[in-house]
Amino acid sequence: MNGWIQAGTVDDLREGPKLIKGGIVVFYHEDEVHALDNRCPHLGFPLHMGSLCNGILTCHWHHARFDVCSGGTLDPWADDVPVHDITVQDGLIWVNPKSRNSNQVQLYKDRLLSGLEQNIGLVIAKAIVGLMEAGVPDTEIAAIGIEFGVKQRRQGWGSGLTILTAMANVLPKLDKQGRILALFQGLLHTARESAGSGTRFLLDPLPDAGVSEERLTGWYRDCIEVRDTRGAERVLLTAVQAAGTGKKRLFSMMSMAATDHFYINGGHTLDFHNKAFESLKYVGHEQHQYVLASLVPMFGNASRSEELHSWQSPVNLVQPIKEAFEELSRKGVSTGSGGNGIDDEALLQALLGDDPLRTVHMLKDALLGGASPVRISQIAALAAAERIVRFHMHNDFGDWISVLHTFTHAHAVHEG
Ligand code: FES
Repeated sequence: MNGWIQAGTVDDLREGPKLIKGGIVVFYHEDEVHALDNRCPHLGFPLHMGSLCNGILTCHWHHARFDVCSGGTLDPWADDVPVHDITVQDGLIWVNPKSRNSNQVQLYKDRLLSGLEQNIGLVIAKAIVGLMEAGVPDTEIAAIGIEFGVKQRRQGWGSGLTILTAMANVLPKLDKQGRILALFQGLLHTARESAGSGTRFLLDPLPDAGVSEERLTGWYRDCIEVRDTRGAERVLLTAVQAAGTGKKRLFSMMSMAATDHFYINGGHTLDFHNKAFESLKYVGHEQHQYVLASLVPMFGNASRSEELHSWQSPVNLVQPIKEAFEELSRKGVSTGSGGNGIDDEALLQALLGDDPLRTVHMLKDALLGGASPVRISQIAALAAAERIVRFHMHNDFGDWISVLHTFTHAHAVHEG
């Protein structure tokens, strides 16, 4: 019995549960001996102070119930309690200090999936801590949530997966507690967003993947244009499968469709595209088709800002922007990343001002003057960030969302 802990005799246990080393409690119940972790898995109340009746151990704090044989709970919000093997030799009871499920990594991965499926924060949090303690890399924990989210939400990619990917991106900059909190926030939002939603089943790619990239791009944009999400998904999956279609090419194809209309879905769509592509580095290659296909459903009822009244009145922004695009397309713009002598400060002030037509003209002139789109988008993101800094906290929440969305979109354009 090397390493096992002696827990006395059956007669000792008849008088009541016994606490032994390692925070383990040993019960005698219905002619059998059972050893369990003494901490209630819900919030840690000592289980030896609970009630044991008819095979069910009930914690006295919030009344979670556990099968005393397996440790399984009848109240999933409380989580299962670890159980320990026992043996009897020469009338003495011996308890294995290691709990019955020795494969802790698989146990916690299973628990994390259960927590995501049931949308139970406590189970998710404990699984994160358990996996980190077992040495599982943080990004592998995030990947479990990403794979879950892209398959278990019929509406596809949303803010939960965006938060999870953003949190995964900042993990290397955080200490241990920060990493736990970051993963928890990302995984919890993913679980909340998937709760009550159906599983997403992928369509098949087109049978013959010999279609050219240019044609697939055209088909994809055409499908998105008419909100045909199923057609778009088949074309996209064909492009993913096609040999030689790298991530850059896919990003270009999908971003074009996402920017064929103005400021789709209040700026979220482009940001979600970026985050989905960033998440690819965390999941296995076989998951890429699920991640990218999950972006398509959001186009089904996407709001296109040029159709909104607020973009046409009291100032009609749509026509001047379209005319600027046409002129830029005719004359061409730089593809470098330099500033080419643009007056950063003047442009920044114009972006923060309240004369949108002047802003359109300044941006167009800067681009025609040789400033790169990358540089211009960086200044736009800076201006959007400045608006957040200047935003007064007493303003209405709806106004705050406008400011936030502007930054989200401007930042996404620059990142793209
Ligand atoms: S601590 Fe046991 S049920 Fe809450």
